Amino acid sequence: MAKITYVEHNGTEHIVDVANGLTVMEGARDNNIPGIEADCGGACACSTCHVYVDPDWVEKVPAKDDMEEDMLDFAFEPDPATSRLTCQIKVTDALDGLRVKMPEKQI
Ligand code: FES
Repeated sequence: MAKITYVEHNGTEHIVDVANGLTVMEGARDNNIPGIEADCGGACACSTCHVYVDPDWVEKVPAKDDMEEDMLDFAFEPDPATSRLTCQIKVTDALDGLRVKMPEKQI
């Protein structure tokens, strides 16, 4: 279980508990948090689950693979250092306290 803070582009924060084994995207979806659309349902095929990971957390989340890296090119204003696709980040206890910020829009 991890407490994750999702920050909308306008600064509104949503702090929710997300069970281990879910993805950060599923945590947002299951809690009706706006700003993460996840059109492909988590298949790493749409880039509409894009967020900016808080700089303090970039090194603590598991590294992205090549497929995520390629798909991020299609995201809205991706940042090479902090952008991630939330459907590719599995929740574990190690992510307790994670903060992610949604972009102004999803593509
Ligand atoms: S939900 Fe489509 S890439 Fe993450």
